[in-house]
Amino acid sequence: VSGLPDGFTVRPMARNDYAKGFYECLRVLTWVGEPTEAEFLGRFDELVAARDTYYFVVIEYQDRIVGTGCLVVERKFIHDHGKCGHVEEIAVVKEHQGQGLGLKIMQALESVAVAVGCYKSILNCGPRNEPFYGKCGYHNSGIEMSNYY
Ligand code: ACO
Repeated sequence: VSGLPDGFTVRPMARNDYAKGFYECLRVLTWVGEPTEAEFLGRFDELVAARDTYYFVVIEYQDRIVGTGCLVVERKFIHDHGKCGHVEEIAVVKEHQGQGLGLKIMQALESVAVAVGCYKSILNCGPRNEPFYGKCGYHNSGIEMSNYY
């Protein structure tokens, strides 16, 4: 991914990102709770152990996480045992929104999806984010349904 503003780096999430404000970044998206560092590391290791399934990227600026996003690779029986990417947990901190960082995160996830052989990627979002995802190359292809427990 090229063309980030000066001082910003996009990279895979790392074990020391807890201290760099990973959860503060996610809070712009939704309720996150108050996970401890040990809980973060536990989840991090779990996702790594799932091998070739969870790809978290972050954008770092001045030792802080200012953006994040994830691609989850689903392995299917249909489409000749194809793989489908699920784009999840896209967030850019308020003070850096509108600088193209969200688009860079989406481009990074798209590179991963293509590299691992996904035939498509899909995501769920609210109507207010539809224009953003449209600029990222997505189109509205149905309705989202959910069942919360
Ligand atoms: N309405 C219209 N256009 C928009 C909007 C919007 N709400 N948001 C971004 N865009 C446009 C920008 O103007 C820009 O267009 P341009 O290239 O023509 O100038 C393009 O989309 C890219 O915008 P970015 O600057 O890359 O977007 P940003 O870095 O602000 O990130 C994001 C967008 C991730 C939605 C951010 O606003 C955010 O974190 N919001 C709160 C959390 C959230 O809603 N996350 C998404 C949840 S859905 C999911 O995770 C699958």
